[in-house]
Amino acid sequence: MNENLIKKYNTPVPRYTSYPPANYFEDTFSADDYLAAVKHSNNWQPEQVSIYFHIPFCKKMCHYCGCNSCRISDVQSVKRYFNTLKTELRMVSGHIDKNRKVSQIHFGGGTPNSVPPGYLAELMNLVKENFSLSHSPEIAVECNPAYLDAPYTKKLIKAGFNRFSLGIQDFNIHVLNKVNRDQPLIPVTDLVSYIRSENPQARVNLDFIYGLPGQTKKGFEDTINRAIEIKPDRLVTFSYAHVPWVNKAQKILEKQGLPDNDEKAAMYRVAHEQMTTNGYKAIGLDHFVLEQDELYKALESGRLHRNFQGYCTRETTGQVYAFGVSGISQLQRAYAQNSKSIDEYTDSVARGLLPVKKGYALNNAEIIIREVITTLMCNKQINWPGLSKQLGISVPEILNAVSYNQDLLRQFKEDGIVDYSADSIKVTREGSLFIRNVAALFDPLMATTNNKFSRSF
Ligand SMILES: C[S@@+](CC[C@H](N)C(=O)[O-])C[C@H]1O[C@@H](n2cnc3c(N)ncnc32)[C@H](O)[C@@H]1O
Ligand code: SF4
Repeated sequence: MNENLIKKYNTPVPRYTSYPPANYFEDTFSADDYLAAVKHSNNWQPEQVSIYFHIPFCKKMCHYCGCNSCRISDVQSVKRYFNTLKTELRMVSGHIDKNRKVSQIHFGGGTPNSVPPGYLAELMNLVKENFSLSHSPEIAVECNPAYLDAPYTKKLIKAGFNRFSLGIQDFNIHVLNKVNRDQPLIPVTDLVSYIRSENPQARVNLDFIYGLPGQTKKGFEDTINRAIEIKPDRLVTFSYAHVPWVNKAQKILEKQGLPDNDEKAAMYRVAHEQMTTNGYKAIGLDHFVLEQDELYKALESGRLHRNFQGYCTRETTGQVYAFGVSGISQLQRAYAQNSKSIDEYTDSVARGLLPVKKGYALNNAEIIIREVITTLMCNKQINWPGLSKQLGISVPEILNAVSYNQDLLRQFKEDGIVDYSADSIKVTREGSLFIRNVAALFDPLMATTNNKFSRSF
């Protein structure tokens, strides 16, 4: 890995989980704007839609956390929060076309398994009452294994959950201690075996982070090798996003000593090598899946997409309707984000108002740019004629919307980051680490931004 390239391109750039990125959302976007976008979304393909629930609670706060999460204060506030979620669901579901089938339901956080499983099961029942589900919807839950035992897991499986994302981060207990995180309640191998024995159709993801204090190349290699032995369906290795202006607790990690760029690059490289030589296929930069996984099939056939919940197939992307504090709905022509404050969120809903705090209405050019950036981030390449066919507009119309800096593209080529021809742009193997920088080439907002982003790597 070329150190000079890391120095040159390790700059602050958006993660492009959305376009425009969430820090461009505007306060002027109202609940009425959201409802109008929901009604408009009923007419868009693909037919199937997704639902997201944000459960912000955690039992203990990890110092690296970049998610919208908080420590559980008391039982009553959890109860109130779940009642509010149910009310919000009823308020919005009436505006969504009942003929559209829900193919993906995602409970994220925070830590959904920090609350009694009955709360999650009740929400699932309400979804079933208010929507029609596709014949085999993916019902996913993000779990912290520090609070996950067999009886709890069994209840989730009974409630219909069939994808478990377990946040491992690192198997090394010294690393977990340094970031204020508890180790798994039962060995992860046993937990995964148990999930599979209870429901052979259930799928398991294991999440890891590289770039935390106490991590070394050798240590992370051991962690990834242990993960490979467990053979989860998907392995996700996140680059630690250091954003202390969002989460002040991350400052503590600076004192603990964060690994430098070279160490971080070595961890990524060794993890990548171990996973790809042991049967896993790379999806984007940070997901690794078994060959039979639907994401790999989608990558092969150019149907790979992504939303805030991660990579998905084009069929399941649909429109995402989000519920709960800080939840972001992702619709054809708009994003809408709920209030990040639990009090503000519950007060709004109690007053019969949708808790939308901000959002973004995309114009036609931005919808095209979003497609270009998503295609690049997912498939590491853009084929202009192919995209033109997919979007039903001409290549010059696409190029007009993304009008990018040709000199910069040439520079990427000279640095070995991309190859391009008149019809396509491809990110090279070495360039994969800097895919966010390449995506930023098509983002006109980057030219004028004052927003802060984590570094590209
Ligand atoms: C909401 S959390 C997962 C669920 C559960 N709360 C847990 O900690 O296991 C989603 C994932 O985001 C990742 N994550 C959290 N903070 C991060 C950060 N600052 N940089 C990179 N990844 C991060 C972690 O891998 C984590 O498992
Ligand atoms: S990483 Fe998970 S458990 Fe830790 S604070 Fe963040 S959301 Fe909570």
